[in-house]
Amino acid sequence: MKINIFFAVLAANVWVASATVQWKDSVSRFSTDLLRKKHRDQQVEKFSTVMNRLKPALGKDPTDYPLFVELPLDHFGANNNETIKCRYFVQEAYYKPGGPVIFHDIGEASIGPHAKGLVDEDEFSVAMAKRFNGLLILFEHRFYGQSAPITSVSKDLSKATRRELTQFFKYHTIEQALEDVVYFAKNFTYDLEEYPKQALTPDKTPWVWVGVSYSGARGAWITKRNPGLFKATLASSAPVQLKVNFWEYFTAIEDALLINNKNCSSDLRAAAKWLSDAWDNRDHNLVDQLIDAVYEKDWEETLEQFTPEAEDVWDIRKDYLQDAAWTPFADFQYFGVNGGTLGLFCDIMETAYSDSGEAEGVFESQSLERAVRAYAKAVAAISPYSYTVRSQQRSQRKDKAKRQLSTGTLDDRLDDYSWLWQVCSEFGAFQVANTSRVENLIPSFIDVQSQIDSCISTFGISDQVSEAGPNVDPINEKYRGWYLELSNTLWTNGEFDPWRALSIDSEEEGAPTNDTSTLEIPRCGDTFPAGTQLRYVIKDGFHGSEFSEDVGTETPGFEEPEPSNTLRSPTSTRTRTRTSMTGTPVVDATNAQNLWFSAMSSWLPCTTLRFNPKGAVAETTTAAPSTSESVTQTGTLDGASATGGSGENTPQGKNAGASLVIPSMMIPFFVSIVAFLAGIRAVV
Ligand SMILES: *[C@@H]1O[C@H](CO)[C@@H](O)[C@H](O)[C@H]1NC(C)=O
Ligand SMILES: *[C@@H]1O[C@H](CO)[C@@H](O)[C@H](O)[C@H]1NC(C)=O
Ligand SMILES: *[C@@H]1O[C@H](CO)[C@@H](O)[C@H](O)[C@H]1NC(C)=O
Ligand SMILES: *[C@@H]1O[C@H](CO)[C@@H](O)[C@H](O)[C@H]1NC(C)=O
Ligand SMILES: *[C@@H]1O[C@H](CO)[C@@H](O)[C@H](O)[C@H]1NC(C)=O
Repeated sequence: MKINIFFAVLAANVWVASATVQWKDSVSRFSTDLLRKKHRDQQVEKFSTVMNRLKPALGKDPTDYPLFVELPLDHFGANNNETIKCRYFVQEAYYKPGGPVIFHDIGEASIGPHAKGLVDEDEFSVAMAKRFNGLLILFEHRFYGQSAPITSVSKDLSKATRRELTQFFKYHTIEQALEDVVYFAKNFTYDLEEYPKQALTPDKTPWVWVGVSYSGARGAWITKRNPGLFKATLASSAPVQLKVNFWEYFTAIEDALLINNKNCSSDLRAAAKWLSDAWDNRDHNLVDQLIDAVYEKDWEETLEQFTPEAEDVWDIRKDYLQDAAWTPFADFQYFGVNGGTLGLFCDIMETAYSDSGEAEGVFESQSLERAVRAYAKAVAAISPYSYTVRSQQRSQRKDKAKRQLSTGTLDDRLDDYSWLWQVCSEFGAFQVANTSRVENLIPSFIDVQSQIDSCISTFGISDQVSEAGPNVDPINEKYRGWYLELSNTLWTNGEFDPWRALSIDSEEEGAPTNDTSTLEIPRCGDTFPAGTQLRYVIKDGFHGSEFSEDVGTETPGFEEPEPSNTLRSPTSTRTRTRTSMTGTPVVDATNAQNLWFSAMSSWLPCTTLRFNPKGAVAETTTAAPSTSESVTQTGTLDGASATGGSGENTPQGKNAGASLVIPSMMIPFFVSIVAFLAGIRAVV
């Protein structure tokens, strides 16, 4: 009997947790959609003009023509002749002979939702193709979207055993996926009606890497790994330093909260502390009130079947509490405090008892019970359960649309499992609490061990997933983590992007302090001085900010930024010395775009780039004559309107809002884990 009840509860929990995650996964997308829709509504006229203008030139909509490349499943083993097909889309409308191949890597997500952006001329990578007469490729990473073997495992991932999942994802590694691109590029052909017989491989045509987030890191790694394959690399918001315990994720949120809403900052700290203590002391009264308030009636009913003190019940509570604790931060990395749900959350919590807000926050000024009630009210307000019906209808409509769109038979949840596999095996970056810090915003039970336990409960123990946690060392050793130095690469990071802490512009302990940045784009064929990189921090920016900014003509040309000593607010309690030491320049997103156009103008004419930071013998270069001296100068490439940012040929338009091609997701780990825990526990 006990067992049956337990399973009934688990099943309820499965529903809640998977509903949560399903929604969670779409919450940032949903708010992104809202912002975008607003922007689009304003621009509907303009957008349809773009579409109409594009259609005749295109002849065909690239999104109607998914292409697949067959790649070895195992690039490094001699005895395996299995293959994997990866999907890609090509925007050919802007191509003219001599133009580059622009390889836009999406990273850890299906390219399906991104493909629409291929016909949006304000989208950053489309603008690159347009200015440089390029052929634009949108590439899907192995094991995402439709780029995976269709087997009994991938048709229904929730039915697969741990061993089957491990076997299925065995060749889902960072190195295999990088080699996919090498193989793809070296073998690339494309049939252009207007310009037949173009030699488009990287030895004949310059290839350009464009990537954000994990795909930005991929661009950086491949630039080191296969020098010369890509003639220019944009590594945007690239977390190149892999780290298992990534408590630093929250430091950017802490800083932004301190600047924007101090009372809310103290309240969120207090809430994390209260949750940690309640967990440690197994003190369930207020915890149950919170769960009940946020998740409505389910929890109350569930509890009736249980001894509330039982340890099993605490396991279930943990799923809810993890979810609640994460909710206020769910879309911070894209929208910050005021543009996202965190700002809304703060408003609701701080004004729960007084229209004008509480002095020092509710946890300071109210009883604990009233403070928890305010916290619960705010979580509930931004959580799906306050509008369950609407959100369910929405997600049902979405699912239906998705099923209709889907041409394969792969499980819809492939992307989630796939990223989880990467996180558990090689990537790490567990976004967890560090309770030894007063600024901590996350309850203590969200720790590294609990994340490793979840990995093992999903995939079991194998060569790739172990009790020791993700094996981040090989990639860090091979590519030098945040000490990676590259030529022909522009690095950008958002000032408040939590992922910046793992980038070359990190200010965290152990991050480089001896490197410098430069304002000068090295001339074609020239090297950077040792320790010097072309890199920018985008003022007020977040994850992949220059990609969510339409390319317009608001700020013509690149404006030389002032090196900044005060990137973060002086109210920050953390010491921030690295930025002032290296003086990483700060630019706005439009300037970052323009700088990239200038860099492309400079670098594309090179057929071979010399780069040698350590002063060893440089490769010979067959570089074309230099076309660009510095960022302020412009160069042209085979008659393309490579105006280096002066942008005469771009359509006029307000440079606001977001574009359709969004940065890849970097789904927070413990959010996705809740889904699997639930879904898989029920089956395995
Ligand atoms: C793959 O290799 C196996 C033996 O290892 C062989 O039996 C099979 O025919 C090969 N398949 C292809 C398509 O070459
Ligand atoms: C494709 O590229 C790989 C790796 O560079 C090479 O080994 C292979 O022979 C190429 N295949 C074709 C058909 O050119
Ligand atoms: C924050 O607290 C201060 C007093 O410390 C109060 O004056 C202010 O109104 C509060 N702000 C908000 C947004 O609640
Ligand atoms: C937690 O933060 C403290 C203080 O900043 C730091 O010394 C410690 O290394 C952090 N813990 C972990 C596990 O990194
Ligand atoms: C900076 O320090 C790191 C680690 O000590 C070292 O590997 C790197 O070569 C140094 N870079 C320069 C430019 O001195």
